[in-house]
Amino acid sequence: VSISDLHSNKVKINSSVIIKGWVRHNRSSKSGISFIDMYDGSCFHTIQIIARNILVNYYQEIIKLTVGCSIVVYGKLIESLGRNQVYEINAKKIQIVGLVKDASNYPMSSKNHTIKHLRKHSHLRPRTNFIGSISRIRNGLFHALHKFLFDREYYWISTPIITGLNSEGGGEMFRVSTLDFSNVPKNNFSNVNFEHDFFGRESFLSVSGQLSLEAYACSLSKVYSFGPIFRAENSNTSRHLSEFWMLEVETAFSNLNDLIVLSESMLQYSVNFILEKCSVDLEFLKKTLDLNIISRLQEFSKRKFIVIEYKEAISILKKSNEFPNKSIFLNMNLLLEHERYLVEKHFNFPIIIINYPRSLKAFYMKLNKDNETVAAMDLLVPKIGEILGGSEREEELKNLDERFSEFSLKKDSYWWYRDLRKYGTVPHAGFGLGFERFLSYITGVKNVKDVSPFPRTIKNFNI
Ligand code: 4AD
Ligand code: MG
Repeated sequence: VSISDLHSNKVKINSSVIIKGWVRHNRSSKSGISFIDMYDGSCFHTIQIIARNILVNYYQEIIKLTVGCSIVVYGKLIESLGRNQVYEINAKKIQIVGLVKDASNYPMSSKNHTIKHLRKHSHLRPRTNFIGSISRIRNGLFHALHKFLFDREYYWISTPIITGLNSEGGGEMFRVSTLDFSNVPKNNFSNVNFEHDFFGRESFLSVSGQLSLEAYACSLSKVYSFGPIFRAENSNTSRHLSEFWMLEVETAFSNLNDLIVLSESMLQYSVNFILEKCSVDLEFLKKTLDLNIISRLQEFSKRKFIVIEYKEAISILKKSNEFPNKSIFLNMNLLLEHERYLVEKHFNFPIIIINYPRSLKAFYMKLNKDNETVAAMDLLVPKIGEILGGSEREEELKNLDERFSEFSLKKDSYWWYRDLRKYGTVPHAGFGLGFERFLSYITGVKNVKDVSPFPRTIKNFNI
């Protein structure tokens, strides 16, 4: 059985059980009893094992068990006499599976480690309470988002990871192909080992699945993609990863207002799900990381998001006197410090900013009637800033072509994307949610590197 089964009353008192897991803590008393706290990751809780010196390997093995050793325990579930736990296991036999060799140098010994120390050991840090909790909440959040969309008949589309096209129109792609093919005569690859360079085609890792997703939205109506995304941004900050997960949702016959309603209900649903299903892990984070975590999440899950125009945001920043006078002006890009002022000091709650200047946003966003702004939205939260961004998509071929020239993009490269506008075009809209940023907001973990199992950034690529 799992330790989670033991704590959820699935196993009757006095039943014989077999538990497989690892030692969190071992204390041996002079009277010949060892108290072993054991975990198996199935839930936050450990279970206490009572081992007496009548066990054959008591003196040779059991009292020497240190944190991290793997064991199989055969015993009986009993009610605990101690004050710290309801149940414990009276051990009949303890089989040692793997000892921790050189225990004094074990990087995950029971001390409280700094988050930086843990980050250096991405392969061992899952053994800590902290990363255990984050991993279970991460899993819960995946499930909640999929479930929310599944229940509303959104279909999950797998969009390509290797691509020839820049979906965002920017320059932030990692190359798959590295060979310089300009010197190779056309179609004559006989002397080049080109298989490892995607067969000689210029190719990249995807920065967004959106354009492919639009192809499916224009037939299945309600679709989403959820997968790894790669950005070659030279930003070493607490909110940037080179590899992260993005949920992108795309809906035909929908507009900016629908996007706001959909994203609000999706995020609130997910937070409610986590509050319900991951309550023990949240309690642990409350004790160790963020005293307000539960009330913060409860408020998030109930209160309507605040929606303001980009122009209003600029005038609030101007009036605030927090920033040098000339640093705030119309059409400027909002920096993290501006976003944080708005959400943390002015509104003190997540906000959605809509209708950004056209020059600040991607080519596919639909122009508003004013011809100056686009029908876009960004959701900003305290500490992290933007966690979700979306827009209406330009559905008229003529307007889209004008946007390609405005951004100096070759429209021929986007030939299939243009086809979607040629054949039965419809107004449609969608958004992308940065999964690690949302998770970081939910858990109160300051750096996205600590909610990603094996973070990849400019500086982090040791494991
Ligand atoms: O704002 P972005 O770049 O939007 C898109 O890619 C659109 N195609 C989405 C869409 O409309 N379908 O990225 C979306 C979200 C951001 O709001 C942010 O939360 C997250 O992805 N994100 C990152 N998260 C971690 N590390 C990075 N380097 C990120 N870049 C973006
Ligand atoms: Mg964005």
